[in-house]
Amino acid sequence: MEKIQLILELELYSSENELSHDEKKLLEMAAEAAENAYAPYSNYKVGAAIRLKSGKIVTANNQENAAYPSGLCAERVALFYASANFPDDPPQTIAIKAKTSDFKIKDPTPPCGACRQVMIEAESRNNKNIRVIMQGDNGRVFISNSIENLLPMSFQASRLDK
Ligand code: THU
Repeated sequence: MEKIQLILELELYSSENELSHDEKKLLEMAAEAAENAYAPYSNYKVGAAIRLKSGKIVTANNQENAAYPSGLCAERVALFYASANFPDDPPQTIAIKAKTSDFKIKDPTPPCGACRQVMIEAESRNNKNIRVIMQGDNGRVFISNSIENLLPMSFQASRLDK
């Protein structure tokens, strides 16, 4: 028996002020987008802002539903909107910021597994890494330089090759 370890690498910053102007701006836009989330069931409002290769920015937020599974996370709303409207403009960076009045969100909100799966489709489709910027309420920022890094051993289109 052999064991292997898959390493997940994150860049850590103590606040958004350590980021580049563009990445700080994207995080601010994610925070703004969170304000418009429709989250009456969880009261956990998430905003996502995606910078596309052209520089265009797409924002979105989570959309919940009385039939719970019919709702969708902010990241997927944003990614699907981007792909539906700008299919030839690959996502370069996505910023994610959550807010709730119920408690302090200590650590940055990471994308859920289903969102990572959708993100890795965009990454491999465009053959271009997507940076993920996440921030919690204490200001600390985590950045993953790719989705591959956040979703090791992923299921991708190449596995369907005969
Ligand atoms: N949610 C997101 O929008 N993105 C995440 O990364 C984590 C969770 C949403 C789903 C649901 O509306 C609420 O947050 C609580 O799970």
